[in-house]
Amino acid sequence: MSRTVSVSMNKKPIYDIKLEQDFAGLAPALEELGFKDRNAVLISDDKVSPMYSEEVTAELSKVFEKVTVLTFPAGEESKNLDSVTALLRGMLAAGLKRSDAVVALGGGVTGDMAGFCAAIYMRGISVIQIPTSLLSMVDSSIGGKTGVDLDQYKNMVGAFKMPSLVYINTSVLRSLDKRQFNSGMGEVLKYGLIMDASFYEWLLSNMVEIDDRESAVLEEMIEHCCICKQRIVERDPFEQGDRALLNFGHTIGHAIEKYKDFKLLHGECVALGSVAAAYISWQKGRLSKDEYYEIRDMFVPFGLPISIDDIDDEEILKLTKSDKKAALNGIKFILLKRVGKAYIEKDLSDEDILAGIKEIHYVESND
Ligand SMILES: NC(=O)c1ccc[n+]([C@@H]2O[C@H](COP(=O)([O-])OP(=O)(O)OC[C@H]3O[C@@H](n4cnc5c(N)ncnc54)[C@H](O)[C@@H]3O)[C@@H](O)[C@H]2O)c1
Ligand SMILES: [Zn+2]
Repeated sequence: MSRTVSVSMNKKPIYDIKLEQDFAGLAPALEELGFKDRNAVLISDDKVSPMYSEEVTAELSKVFEKVTVLTFPAGEESKNLDSVTALLRGMLAAGLKRSDAVVALGGGVTGDMAGFCAAIYMRGISVIQIPTSLLSMVDSSIGGKTGVDLDQYKNMVGAFKMPSLVYINTSVLRSLDKRQFNSGMGEVLKYGLIMDASFYEWLLSNMVEIDDRESAVLEEMIEHCCICKQRIVERDPFEQGDRALLNFGHTIGHAIEKYKDFKLLHGECVALGSVAAAYISWQKGRLSKDEYYEIRDMFVPFGLPISIDDIDDEEILKLTKSDKKAALNGIKFILLKRVGKAYIEKDLSDEDILAGIKEIHYVESND
């Protein structure tokens, strides 16, 4: 079934998110947007490109006059300014003009980086997002945040760049490995926890179908996440308020990601950070003990970790607090009032945060 979620701002439609089971709807959608006879650069990583760029290029070529494919090595290590420079040079060599477009085909790394290239090339050209990982379908491709890492700081350099279209072909999820799929589920569960208790219940009752990647269930799930994200982005496009709620689980999560040198996946770290944040919410009297344990245990059937060994608690606390953005803007910690309702907590002590870190720190007992 085709589904469309429209994203608007101040009641003005900005772009559509199209959910399909193949790439056949891509050309008509682009033609409608006026891309006929323009040029495009398709940006993809070297893992996704061999699988899908030929098929996508064939579709794009029905509308665009010329399509040039640019690739970069897959992985977060590539998400930096050196790769951006190389891609910009590729765009220039392809003769891309202001009226042309960048098409991002891949996971969040591709979407963030290609979106950023589109934002700064000739002061901004159009970008079309074709997310292929679960995480990018439910989160990173929507909302216009683009950018790259700088040294060890995640997403330190970037720009807001709204796409002209987000085109999701859910069938590509079949080639995504299980660990990456589960990582995406970390963000899916986040929506239930921060803003939608009935979605949370729905996820629990569909966990088997989700794990089997039943297409109808996945489509419903992805559409629901797109609606959640779009609702928050519409309310707060430039993260001056409520959009920060999407960072639930990310404050400690990012610190773990950094501490483990990005060996753990983003959604895995978000799951750990979410457990810590839920624990702190219980300690602060917001959640009951039962609610906390229910939330914690919910990550397990989705293949996500709820504890971690080999961490230094104090070091994680330091990393949480020294996060450059947190240090510059003040730590905004996201806690839960209950399942489906998050809030911003600005006054947490080091002890509060440390208690959350200790809760997820798995220590093998000797007895
Ligand atoms: N802009 C935002 O609002 C936002 C939000 C959340 C996360 N992010 C960013 O997203 C990034 C993480 O995204 P990600 O998890 O998609 O990472 P990713 O782009 O590195 O993709 C993960 C891996 O899966 C592979 N892959 C992608 N689609 C596939 C498919 N269909 N079949 C087989 N393999 C496939 C990729 O090649 C890669 O190896 C991080 O850099 C994070 O900062 C951005
Ligand atoms: Zn995230």
